[in-house]
Amino acid sequence: MPTRQNSVACFLLLFWATCGGAFAGEPRGSEALTVADFRRPLLLARFDSNQDGQLNATERKSLRAAFGGIDVPLLPETAYRYTLGKVPSHITDSQLNELDNTAKDNRLSDAGATLGRVLFYDKQLSKNNTIACASCHDQELAFADPRRFSVGFKGGRTGRNAMSLGNGRFTNVNGSRPGFFWDERAATLEDQALMPIQDKIEMGMKLTDLEQKLQRVPYYPPLFAAAFRSQDVTSDRIAKAIAQFMRSMVSFNSKFDRAAQAAGGNDYSQEFDDFTLEENLGKSLFIDGVDDIAEIGCAHCHVPPSFSMPKSFNNGLEVEYSDQGLGARDVPSNDPFSPTNDGKFKASSLRNIALTAPYMHDGRFKTLQQVIEHYSSGVQPHANLGLAINGEENATGGGSSGFRLTPKQKTALIAFLKTLTDEEFISDPRFSDPFVRLEN
Ligand code: HEC
Ligand code: HEC
Repeated sequence: MPTRQNSVACFLLLFWATCGGAFAGEPRGSEALTVADFRRPLLLARFDSNQDGQLNATERKSLRAAFGGIDVPLLPETAYRYTLGKVPSHITDSQLNELDNTAKDNRLSDAGATLGRVLFYDKQLSKNNTIACASCHDQELAFADPRRFSVGFKGGRTGRNAMSLGNGRFTNVNGSRPGFFWDERAATLEDQALMPIQDKIEMGMKLTDLEQKLQRVPYYPPLFAAAFRSQDVTSDRIAKAIAQFMRSMVSFNSKFDRAAQAAGGNDYSQEFDDFTLEENLGKSLFIDGVDDIAEIGCAHCHVPPSFSMPKSFNNGLEVEYSDQGLGARDVPSNDPFSPTNDGKFKASSLRNIALTAPYMHDGRFKTLQQVIEHYSSGVQPHANLGLAINGEENATGGGSSGFRLTPKQKTALIAFLKTLTDEEFISDPRFSDPFVRLEN
């Protein structure tokens, strides 16, 4: 039963198809479309011809054709709440405020994150419409990439392994403000968001071209108007919206969080009743260190409750690095005890780490077993090493760290790392692909 509102929308869609043409040149009538025109009930009323509540291949084709043959976002009937984060009680408000990197001039709004979600999944952000942020950051894998190196818009390979994106909002650990990427070259999420778009391997777009291109795409003027009270597409707003979407990607619903909440307080050294013996042993090794020496606990660098790093460290993967990480950038040493930044890298949060293989900046380790083996016996005596070395030589002539671990301790650490997986996060529809594509 077409309501009056529906028929207006249908008329507008027809108008787009017939008068808007291929969206070349200035959009005519774009001010007439609103975000409501892209909500599920309206698009289904128009294009779900057999009324089965979903779009089959033929129906998808006609929807796409009405918009000039492009991927079109299908927005939820009621706008998602991105501003309402669920945070377990073991994380206090003041702790959360301290970790929060939200920019004063870019507060999170539901409309802003909704726009950010569409941008994140939109292949039109790349020069040849083949690559979206999501092509290298897969929600099911906590937004990491299972490939050692990712593949860009012309088939080129990235120089490093793609990073997971959960809790990008909560990175200000221990009063410091680490940057983004393995070498921290982006100071903020807003700065970061525009870099892959312009990267010659990743997406290959000039920002001025991108602004003009997106301005002509029918769903962007209304989405920008809803988010920023102006339908003008600017790269500043693109960056802000993507950053808002990434800040909405909060992941605090893991077994670790449930067990910590049940245990009460934020003393992570106490035994958790809801953990197995093995998980508690792994937790103790991770948090309190081997032989209870906290300085050689993993948590010294991967700090709970965000499990992210306050700054870049060296963890002894090589004596001579071919990629120097932070050391390749022209910034002063980040540590009075190490003369340079060579071989220092900043990993993203270890939350969901069981899903984000392969590991390290170059994706050299396929499994968590290999990671733990590295810390136990593979650590190289680098000049900037941040780990305690215990002097013993390992089989390959390298040093071994303070984490010389028994087989039982190794499996316990892995069991603990697996408690950081948040199943809800990786299937949350708010972070999923909104587009009606040919293949889905
Ligand atoms: C072609 C693959 C590819 C695409 C496309 C891509 N990324 Fe990435 N992403 C990577 C790689 C590789 C890294 C690590 C790069 C480095 O450190 O040099 C990364 C790192 C990041 C980081 C840093 C995380 C941290 O904790 O420091 C963020 C945030 C991010 N990407 C967001 C995005 C956004 C937003 C987009 C789209 C605008 C995007 N990425 C597009 C591959 C990609
Ligand atoms: C001195 C600081 C430091 C300590 C202590 C430390 N790490 Fe790391 N960790 C790092 C750095 C730096 C990286 C990234 C290194 C790189 O890619 O070159 C890293 C990377 C990782 C990664 C891979 C992250 C990813 O996204 O690929 C895992 C998993 C990890 N560490 C687990 C542990 C565990 C478990 C322990 C304790 C046994 C530990 N770390 C102790 C500094 C540290």
